[in-house]
Amino acid sequence: MSEPSDGMIPRTPIRVEHLDYTGGGLAEAEVPAAPFALVTEWVAAARTRQLDRGDVPEPLSIAVATVDGEGRPDVRTVLLRFLDPRGPGFVTSLESAKSAQLREVPALAATLTWPAMFRAIRFRGRAEPIGEEELDLYFAGRPRGSQISAWVSHQSAPVGGREELEQAWARAEERFEGRAVPRPGTWGGWRIVCDAVEAWAGRSNRLHDRFRWSRVDEGGLDDPAAWRRERLQP
Ligand SMILES: Cc1cc2nc3c(=O)[nH]c(=O)nc-3n(C[C@H](O)[C@H](O)[C@H](O)COP(=O)(O)O)c2cc1C
Repeated sequence: MSEPSDGMIPRTPIRVEHLDYTGGGLAEAEVPAAPFALVTEWVAAARTRQLDRGDVPEPLSIAVATVDGEGRPDVRTVLLRFLDPRGPGFVTSLESAKSAQLREVPALAATLTWPAMFRAIRFRGRAEPIGEEELDLYFAGRPRGSQISAWVSHQSAPVGGREELEQAWARAEERFEGRAVPRPGTWGGWRIVCDAVEAWAGRSNRLHDRFRWSRVDEGGLDDPAAWRRERLQP
């Protein structure tokens, strides 16, 4: 692209240092027939790497995409808080924009990305609310300050100022003084019941390895009969 004639707004691509992706890649023999074993192995590896080398902060951060009633996509980062053969899950406010979108269009896509490891995992599927018992168990283990915030924040609604939030937090702290903070009914979570999972491993010269599992039958992420596996072009 040429430089703009007005000299004001550069319209050329961002100048970059090209980083060659020198990850270990992924070979057919390492890719299980069902995705669960590889997903859990990569998640564990990212957490270990953060502990050992500190270059994968928030290894459980996951970008989660939703669609609104007009078909417009939306995306934000949350933290992966559930991972079992039913699918990955996260917690959030049920008053939030994402939860409203999911009630209207129960479709989810998400990606875990670990650039320092040249790895990413993608999920696509349908949204299912996390069960009450699982939520209670998780909520009970949260730091008290976060539990109080769950009562205070009407997530995604406008707020007049920081002070308003802090005053509301202080009032809630007083209200729950000396007793356990219960889980508010407006606090919940969503699971992705996957119909596709992809593992991406960055390789040299942008000739990356990609494997996708597509659902062919009912069954968990760990059920080989439920998935077809194929290598994709980079
Ligand atoms: C690293 C990181 C972790 C986050 N974790 C969560 C989370 O677990 N749950 C959540 O509701 N929001 C989380 N957020 C905030 C969301 O990105 C977002 O601002 C919020 O959920 C409101 O999104 P919405 O208006 O699209 O519903 C996190 C943000 C970052 C950057």
